[in-house]
Amino acid sequence: MAYSLITLEQTKSPISEAFRTLRTNVQFTSVDSETKKIMITSAGPREGKSTTVANLAVSMAQSGKSVLVLDADLRNPTQHKLFGLDNREGLSVALVQEQDYRSYIRETAVSGVMVLTGGPIPPNPAELVGSKRMKRLLEEVSEQFDIILIDTPPIVAVTDPAILAQDVDGVILVMASGEVHKDYAQSAKELLDKVGAKILGVVLNKADMKTSDYYYYYYYYHGSDNPKKKPKRHKNR
Ligand SMILES: Nc1ncnc2c1ncn2[C@@H]1O[C@H](COP(=O)(O)OP(=O)(O)OP(=O)(O)O)[C@@H](O)[C@H]1O
Ligand SMILES: [Mg+2]
Repeated sequence: MAYSLITLEQTKSPISEAFRTLRTNVQFTSVDSETKKIMITSAGPREGKSTTVANLAVSMAQSGKSVLVLDADLRNPTQHKLFGLDNREGLSVALVQEQDYRSYIRETAVSGVMVLTGGPIPPNPAELVGSKRMKRLLEEVSEQFDIILIDTPPIVAVTDPAILAQDVDGVILVMASGEVHKDYAQSAKELLDKVGAKILGVVLNKADMKTSDYYYYYYYYHGSDNPKKKPKRHKNR
């Protein structure tokens, strides 16, 4: 099975458990202020932003929230692939056409998760995500959904995420363990600080679960002494 939507297939796996922990932590950090629009970014490419967005969306929907996944990585949109949708239309088109963007918001196989895909790659992504239309769209969808999870390109590479960070309630920074250079991670944080973004937390991705206590905790707790044994299917929480 593809790693991508593991929270849907294996609700008892350590990864799903990790996403539930992330979900809970996001809830904790938003106790005093309404945190609806959450942007996910990383310093560099391929650290796991899009995977985090999709799995966190599933995990949040499993806790009864209505979630919109907004693919604002207009340079390399991938949410449509993760949710098995086409990408003929989407955010890029919605931002330049008069047509109501709501018709582009799609249902997914996951109850509670809807997706506005990135759409065809435009020549001016930074301009589009920084537009008044984008601001208005963000305001409107936050009235319609409990949570909006926004996928973005890497922040050290391009300006789009820093621009968007000013219009969201919080930012989650994904860092690939052992891959991201310290200076690079520092620059990401500085870029977010500079625009006054609220960093909700950092997700350390691609950590080796086998060597962590977490792995043992999981197998101990769920009583499986044979990791190869197929986990029993459990109902979504
Ligand atoms: N924890 C993980 N363990 C193993 N593979 C992972 C993990 N997280 C992500 N991947 C894989 O790494 C690749 C990059 O992940 P993803 O597309 O989520 O990163 P990204 O930060 O969105 O990349 P981009 O900068 O290109 O948008 C994908 O093939 C994904 O399946
Ligand atoms: Mg991505």
